[in-house]
Amino acid sequence: MDRIKIVGGGELNGTIPISGAKNAALPLMIASLLTADRVTLKNVPNLADVNLLARILRNHGTDLAVDGKRTSPNLQGETFHLTARDIVDTTAPYEMVSRMRASFWVLGPILARMRQAKVSLPGGCAIGTRPVDLHLTGLKALGAEIEIDGGYVLAKAPKGLHGAHIIFPKVSVGATHNVLLAAALAKGETVIENAAREPEVGDVAALLVKMGVQIEGIGTSTLRIQGRDRLDGAIHTVLPDRIETGTFAMVVAATGGDVVLEDTRIELLQNALDVLAATGTTVTPTASGIRITRRKGEIEPVTVETQPYPGFPTDLQAQLMALMTRAHGTSVIRETIFENRFMHVQELARLGADIQLHGDTATIKGVKHLRGAPVMATDLRASVSLVIAGLMAEGETTVGRVYHLDRGFERLEEKLSRCGANIERLSSG
Ligand code: UD1
Repeated sequence: MDRIKIVGGGELNGTIPISGAKNAALPLMIASLLTADRVTLKNVPNLADVNLLARILRNHGTDLAVDGKRTSPNLQGETFHLTARDIVDTTAPYEMVSRMRASFWVLGPILARMRQAKVSLPGGCAIGTRPVDLHLTGLKALGAEIEIDGGYVLAKAPKGLHGAHIIFPKVSVGATHNVLLAAALAKGETVIENAAREPEVGDVAALLVKMGVQIEGIGTSTLRIQGRDRLDGAIHTVLPDRIETGTFAMVVAATGGDVVLEDTRIELLQNALDVLAATGTTVTPTASGIRITRRKGEIEPVTVETQPYPGFPTDLQAQLMALMTRAHGTSVIRETIFENRFMHVQELARLGADIQLHGDTATIKGVKHLRGAPVMATDLRASVSLVIAGLMAEGETTVGRVYHLDRGFERLEEKLSRCGANIERLSSG
């Protein structure tokens, strides 16, 4: 298994290109199941999760052609041409869905198009129980008959889905995607209240509009969708990855230096950048991205709680915590989205961090020095927090189980080493 070796200490200076968003690319690819015509997606990041979903979609009958292969030093996204002319298999098997939770979102579109679908329940996950009750309630409201059998969701809608008024009791990105995608092929109007407002939901809605669906309220918590019986093909560019953007911004805040994050937009992560500014980091918009500068001086502590968009993202919680381990004082971070999303705490402690956990709240006392050590990645975002801590630490850190990182960060070590970081991948051969 690959590991990443980091020798901490240096500043970062240069430019980092930001990839297309993983969390948009996945549901955008899934949206291609709604039409027999070709959906072309540009700026698709080359990530393990994207490649796994490609296999799942092929299994359902999607034809996928890829062009614009990424070649170093030209880090441009790939273009995916997806055509689901016939859905030959309406089952998404356990072996695949259990490896990536977002693949559960094929349920809505396959059910809407084929009037039946069998999709494995996603199963356990390192960052909490993550149920799918909201997905199922939403689809039932659209007319689905749902049974759970043998670990599978068996969904049927013999007469097709119909519009409905759905009020989610809790904000869920995945449930919003699933119901939005299904509603696009449902008969009549669907209203989703308390919908997730994450920019990736807006990106999927924007693709659906290009495919011929009328949607009002994009970017708000109330979506009004007029379903159609047939959707067209479309061409769409995946929006920039705000989590990758925020992660690199925190890396620069952690190491010091001056880095331009290219092909991204401030408004996608305003809240996280405001927090970063409060730590003493300068954030400036540029023509095509964001400049992050921290020259010298202490990292100021902050008090933050994770919230659905537009609040501080849970997907940046671990990275912020890594930064706060070296703050000048005590920070408090409360995780309100996922229980048990503190797996990185034990690993950060191995580098010398002083973190106390009480329920959903972490209290981080900034220390003067972190010292390098071997650590282990536990999930996608936790693993990158260890990279941040390693870059701040004195001496050598190795991060094991790097496959977690490869699920969501494209060429992380290459992007960082171009800016002067001492980081390399040790391949196990
Ligand atoms: C998505 C993101 C993930 C991010 C998360 C929250 C993708 C591929 N993944 O995950 O990176 O961390 O949003 O921003 O986009 N819940 C229920 N019942 C449900 C569904 C969810 O109780 O049926 C709960 C979850 O347990 C969690 C909360 O709702 O506590 C939010 O989860 P959700 O927004 O659904 O996360 P995902 O879509 O899985």
